[in-house]
Amino acid sequence: MRDTRMDEFVDQVRSRSDLLQVVQSYVPLKRKGSRYWGCCPFHHEKTPSFSVVPDKGFFYCFGCHAGGDVFKFLSLIENVTYFEAIKMQAEKLGVPVPARQRTQKEIEEDREIADLRKVNTMARDFYHNCLTMTRLGTPGKTYFAGRGITDATIDEFQLGFAPAAWDKLSDAFQKRGVTKELLLKSGLVLAGKQGNSVYDRFRNRVIIPIADERGRVVGFGGRVLDDSTPKYLNTPETILFNKRKLLFGLDRARQAIQQSGYAIVVEGYMDAISVFDAGIHNVVASLGTAFTPDHARLLRRYAKGIYFCYDSDEAGQNATIRALSIVNGTELPVHVIVVPDGKDPDEYIRKHGADAFRALVKQAQPLLDYRLQYVLRHVAVDTLAGKRQAMQDMMPVLASVRGNTAVLSEYKKKLAKLLYVDEEIVTETLRHYHEPSEPVMRQRQDVPQRHILKKEENAQTRAGRTIIQTVWQNPEMLAHALASVPLQGIGDPVQREILTYFAQCQKEGRSFREGGIETKLSEEASAELSRAIAESIDDQDQTRVYMDSLAILEKAYLNARYIYHSSKAASLLEAGDVEGARKELDLANKINEAKRV
Ligand code: CTP
Ligand code: MN
Repeated sequence: MRDTRMDEFVDQVRSRSDLLQVVQSYVPLKRKGSRYWGCCPFHHEKTPSFSVVPDKGFFYCFGCHAGGDVFKFLSLIENVTYFEAIKMQAEKLGVPVPARQRTQKEIEEDREIADLRKVNTMARDFYHNCLTMTRLGTPGKTYFAGRGITDATIDEFQLGFAPAAWDKLSDAFQKRGVTKELLLKSGLVLAGKQGNSVYDRFRNRVIIPIADERGRVVGFGGRVLDDSTPKYLNTPETILFNKRKLLFGLDRARQAIQQSGYAIVVEGYMDAISVFDAGIHNVVASLGTAFTPDHARLLRRYAKGIYFCYDSDEAGQNATIRALSIVNGTELPVHVIVVPDGKDPDEYIRKHGADAFRALVKQAQPLLDYRLQYVLRHVAVDTLAGKRQAMQDMMPVLASVRGNTAVLSEYKKKLAKLLYVDEEIVTETLRHYHEPSEPVMRQRQDVPQRHILKKEENAQTRAGRTIIQTVWQNPEMLAHALASVPLQGIGDPVQREILTYFAQCQKEGRSFREGGIETKLSEEASAELSRAIAESIDDQDQTRVYMDSLAILEKAYLNARYIYHSSKAASLLEAGDVEGARKELDLANKINEAKRV
């Protein structure tokens, strides 16, 4: 149905918008006759081929052929839909959007989001002013100076300082009319022991504001001034702050990412700040969590490729491999920037300077090369088994470039040469390698949902679910879990199916969180997985609950093995095989010992 109010609204916003002014707030333009010219923000160029014709209300680039009206421009540069661009512009001009009837819940949610945004912005200003304008900020200033962070950088990132007191922010904000409830919701304060008292979360820490991709502050990272722990304290999860979906610095990096075509992803806030400071602006940091599929999706909106630059220690290298498997399959080409010495990009830049780092970026290795070298370092390729292993490890990567014959053939050659095998063998192996998209363990489809819900719940099933939950959130924990309880020790067949699938994915070097997992599991397993994810536990309790669950499963597993071996001993004895029975009994006793420790 046509809504004339909507048409009127769009016309009104358009007629009030000044295309030239909008474009000029992003791109410097020069006038020539009735046109304005500048360098196109949508592709990389040195001579201007981007033009704006204000009287006609359109822009056009002779280089990349991007063109359209003011909304089209905004939608391209802000990476939003055309309609979102209209709404953004309406908001800026104060034209009210014709309202559809909204539910009470929507209204409340919107209000909560707006309130949280407001209080976060206030907090950013509070910490920043505290650092730059008060005596209380001196320790913070000393800290930043010690790390070589200039006032200009403090300004650019609106860095701040939370004074060493329990109530500075909460007092100030309550005086300004912010409710305790809102302060608690924002995570800026915590509930005290008595009555309804609250106290500041961030104390005696330098503060790094974290914004969403549109530059709206959604949370904070606070770093200690010395070596005490935790080194970083972050805003807890709120409706605005979800670490798995946020990338620090994306608001500042967006344009540079679009222009250069790629994003550099680093591990730490300080790394991102240093790299940005070194004049390389297309940099973002994941917030102390592993790189997630959500991060990849977010970057895909701006980037045509990703360069990972993680810490040079073992943990950083492993994180790189994990990140690569997340991106692998999203068709974003990936490079790895290898930092040869110094712990991380920040330290490298402090030690060797911006130009040296820029050189590292230039030498970034394509995923395949990096992966190849990693495999070669970790597998003994001088043995036949090692060669086979290395070949298997490389197959997912080779398979991912199947579509590009030139690249594929180059890498087949490389791999063959490095492993000292015939290229034909690589080709053969690849031919037999099947992408794990086939239904791995599809089971009967005809099991009605009710059966799953009726399933008896016991401590073991709950423990198994916790393991699944934990591993889903932290894929790197799978190895830890399976080291205590092997797959055959997971009693619940549905949970075993899920964990088997996870393990298989990891073996193949890809993320189990991507690629339509529902289609690869049986109905029951898929339902059980959804349930595990839906019942996620609080971050704070996660480790404890996980460890307890692991202990429950381990005990159950040992129990089952004990029963197996001792009953086998009994039947062997009955059959007159004393020697065999003794062996089984020994095994059973050993297991019994293990149960006690
Ligand atoms: N992190 C965190 N909580 C911690 C430790 C780390 O949230 N207790 C996150 C932070 O986002 C941090 C990132 O993980 O930036 C990387 O951690 P690390 O390499 O230890 O920190 P650096 O960035 O090197 O910190 P700095 O240089 O300040 O020591
Ligand atoms: Mn560091």
